[in-house]
Amino acid sequence: MADHGTGNYEKTYAAAKNDPERFWGEVAEGIDWIKRWDRVIDDSRKPFYRWFSGGVLNTCYNCVDRHVENGRGDQLAMVFDSPLSGTTRKFTYRELQDLTARHAGALRDMGVDKGDTVIIYMPMVPEAIVAMLACARLGAVHSVVFGGFAAPELAKRIVDARPRVVLSASCGLLPGRTVAYKPLLDEALEIAGVPDTPCLVLQRPELKADLVAGRDVDWDEAVARASPADCVPVAATDPLYIIYTSGTTGKPKGVVRDNGGHAVALRWSMEAVYDTQPGDVYWAASDIGWVVGHSYIVYGPLLQGCTTIVYEGKPVGTPDAGAFWRVCAEHGVNTLFTAPTAFRAIKKEDPNGELVRQYDMSRFRCLFLAGERSVPDDIAYASGILGVPVIDHWWQTEMGWPGLSNCMGIEHLPVKPGSVTKPVPGYVIEMLDESGHPRPNGEVGNLAIKLPMPPGTLYTLWHNEEGYRETYLSRYPGYYLSGDAGVYDTDGYASVMARIDDIINVAGHRLSTGQMEQILAAHPAVAEGAVVGVADAIKGQVPIGMVVLKSGVAESEAEICKELVASVRNQLGAVAAFKDVVVVQRLPKTRSGKVLRVTIRTMADGVEPKVPATIEDDSVLPEITAALQALGYPRQAA
Ligand code: COA
Ligand code: AMP
Repeated sequence: MADHGTGNYEKTYAAAKNDPERFWGEVAEGIDWIKRWDRVIDDSRKPFYRWFSGGVLNTCYNCVDRHVENGRGDQLAMVFDSPLSGTTRKFTYRELQDLTARHAGALRDMGVDKGDTVIIYMPMVPEAIVAMLACARLGAVHSVVFGGFAAPELAKRIVDARPRVVLSASCGLLPGRTVAYKPLLDEALEIAGVPDTPCLVLQRPELKADLVAGRDVDWDEAVARASPADCVPVAATDPLYIIYTSGTTGKPKGVVRDNGGHAVALRWSMEAVYDTQPGDVYWAASDIGWVVGHSYIVYGPLLQGCTTIVYEGKPVGTPDAGAFWRVCAEHGVNTLFTAPTAFRAIKKEDPNGELVRQYDMSRFRCLFLAGERSVPDDIAYASGILGVPVIDHWWQTEMGWPGLSNCMGIEHLPVKPGSVTKPVPGYVIEMLDESGHPRPNGEVGNLAIKLPMPPGTLYTLWHNEEGYRETYLSRYPGYYLSGDAGVYDTDGYASVMARIDDIINVAGHRLSTGQMEQILAAHPAVAEGAVVGVADAIKGQVPIGMVVLKSGVAESEAEICKELVASVRNQLGAVAAFKDVVVVQRLPKTRSGKVLRVTIRTMADGVEPKVPATIEDDSVLPEITAALQALGYPRQAA
């Protein structure tokens, strides 16, 4: 569509802003509809907007079947590359269609119908992607849960989503260890109080699971005996999936995405933001448990008729820091999307980029980074070793696709390291002050998106519309509150600086320190605790904890700290990377009793500590310094 010419960004941005109905109506032509929409934007229930109401389609059909019908049947749809299991498997669009239809048949045989929910708790294997598509084929609503979450977290999602069936695998593979998924699943179903929920279990050769007779169904057997299921027509406004994300409480928020707006926006983002065409090879090095996996391992590339790479491995250690370049060269990757943390890990092992030179990267065009802020050093290293544009762009689980980016398919704007460039057409983004007025350029404000947000963004929280309104829409009427702080420079380039809540980003994974504090506080020896995200050279941030013990506790401090680390791992998950906690006599607080987490964080980061005038008693600070030193903070590299 785009001519990439100068001024094209401004033109496209203005078109989307001035006449969104027309703009998105035209973009929607990129999707095959069973029945066209009645209204592009349905604003009859402000502030809740719906897209393409009256329209009927099937997302799986648009991802798979239509490409077969349009002559792409023999093109690769998906390449599974797993250095951890030593296997590569390739699937054409025709093969993917056949597999998806049979998997949908197997789900239907287990009673899954349009509108039912299905939890998918699986490692990065092709069957997990097929399962997502199979749900979409039936009009069922999937909810994928990241494998690095512990059983109690999975249980919370089961309680909220009330799945008709759960799909899982016997194990996931990580460097040096095999994670048995099935015992975690069994425990989660017990905790959730629904131990009889039917489960479809993929037996991986690395570790077989014990199946519960009468409840668990063997994946391969079920698929072998199933007959293919056709695509079920669904309303554009029907839910496609729920993805749970960390909020400021221990209860995860079920972000809901629709079918119609999602398909329209995701396909368009592949051309407008990522500059891909059908037939290109696109790789999002993430996990299907995260939104990046949903949008850019599964739906975006397939809606656009690209080949998607499904990678079960790490950027380093599988077997070395050249792993990404091996995959790019072997499969002809044109575009890679990952988190800056992956590049920091690669840089540590291969500071001069020697490994990339061993591979044929001639087809590689562009690198996109998101999930956390890319500092100019991250960008300089990546563009230095790759010699292609490196694009930092910003979005969130709730949005589903980028809101601030250099739109490479519209116009290549000059890259400013440290900035995420400009709002993507369709998004109107402002940095607001406390009273809701846009801050002047150069001043940091609360990043807010004007309603209606474009198609593809969340339209509610699962069975919790009031929670949606309260969390996101009530702070500034007429806007969605992102939870991030941002700033525009004098050229209108945006930078996203930090969260305004207790969310931290650990290796690109979004976690709540408040939730970790709740876990610490639940320990019988703990009176109170604080968790803050401190700077980490590889992961960006890692959580550390400080606890005050109840008086008269007999257990040793070392023993308690060990138990606290284990509690966070067992209740939240290994992914939290919570390894450091220390006992203190008291926490720094304001006179009104609020724990000064920012003070602790800045002290740990070794920068000028932010100590407010309202501190209750600053004589506590030397003790905090000593406690941080005991944990090894501030770190040399920070
Ligand atoms: N199942 C079970 N456990 C998992 C898991 C899974 N699917 N994924 C990660 N974990 C565990 C890890 O084994 C690790 O446990 P450990 O404490 O026993 O070592 C812990 O969770 C943290 O994992 P991770 O965040 O992956 O850290 P790491 O130190 O193993 O690797 C990086 C660091 C930077 C290499 C890695 O985070 C990475 O590749 N990140 C870049 C891409 C990315 O994932 N982005 C996500 C959003 S785009
Ligand atoms: P998630 O919902 O897990 O995708 O995490 C979204 C959060 O990650 C955002 O709210 C930001 O805090 C952060 N984030 C994502 N991308 C960027 C970026 N490019 N720059 C700064 N922060 C980012």
